[in-house]
Amino acid sequence: MAKRSWKPGTMIYPLPAVLVSCGRTEEEYNLLTVAWTGTVCTNPPMCYVSIRPERHSYPIIRRTGEFVINLTTSAMARATDWCGVKSGRDFDKFRETGLTPRKAAVVDAPVVDESPIAIECRVRQVIPLGSHDMFLAEVVNVQVDESLIDPESGRFDLERARPLVYSHGEYFELGELIGHFGWSVRRRKTIARERNAAAGRRNSATKHTRKECKK
Ligand SMILES: Cc1cc2nc3c(=O)[nH]c(=O)nc-3n(C[C@H](O)[C@H](O)[C@H](O)COP(=O)(O)O)c2cc1C
Repeated sequence: MAKRSWKPGTMIYPLPAVLVSCGRTEEEYNLLTVAWTGTVCTNPPMCYVSIRPERHSYPIIRRTGEFVINLTTSAMARATDWCGVKSGRDFDKFRETGLTPRKAAVVDAPVVDESPIAIECRVRQVIPLGSHDMFLAEVVNVQVDESLIDPESGRFDLERARPLVYSHGEYFELGELIGHFGWSVRRRKTIARERNAAAGRRNSATKHTRKECKK
């Protein structure tokens, strides 16, 4: 394969584009779109978001020490992009997008009701890196959309929510299922069974309709 050196840059894609919600009071509530996010530890469960200090959300998260990572879906794509180009200095982003702030279980920052998974976080460390500061945080609670839990197996099926994927400046939906964790060392019969089960879930996903958000 012929290779070419590219200037050093942020080339780890695809990524999720999440909506980070913050603020302690309704007047302060804000949303910003973040792609620089990820998991850093399983136990204790920890993740990060990297945020530029000039963002309106930055001093809010710094002061309150809390935020919520709300995973996004294709129905939320327009709102997700909009929250990533407009500032809470100028807009009430919940009102403008039609997204619904709901009380979180543990933190004071709101969760986005339309999000299939809301991850409530408490900041443990702020690491200045350059353009962005990294907020390393502990996950203190997770809220999931009940309608995505299979009543029989109890399995949580995020795929049915059509999660949003961000790659090199563009938004996508997930593509075809290729395999499950560990499938490369599993027997062919098991793989076929898993494929059929996934196809069944995909069929029922088409029935799982969701109102598209504004913006
Ligand atoms: C897809 C996407 C990903 C983004 N990722 C980040 C990020 O990781 N960190 C960041 O500081 N800003 C990121 N931004 C930009 C902020 O979301 C944007 O500046 C927003 O207007 C800030 O809102 P605020 O001023 O209300 O806090 C991203 C924007 C988009 C559209």
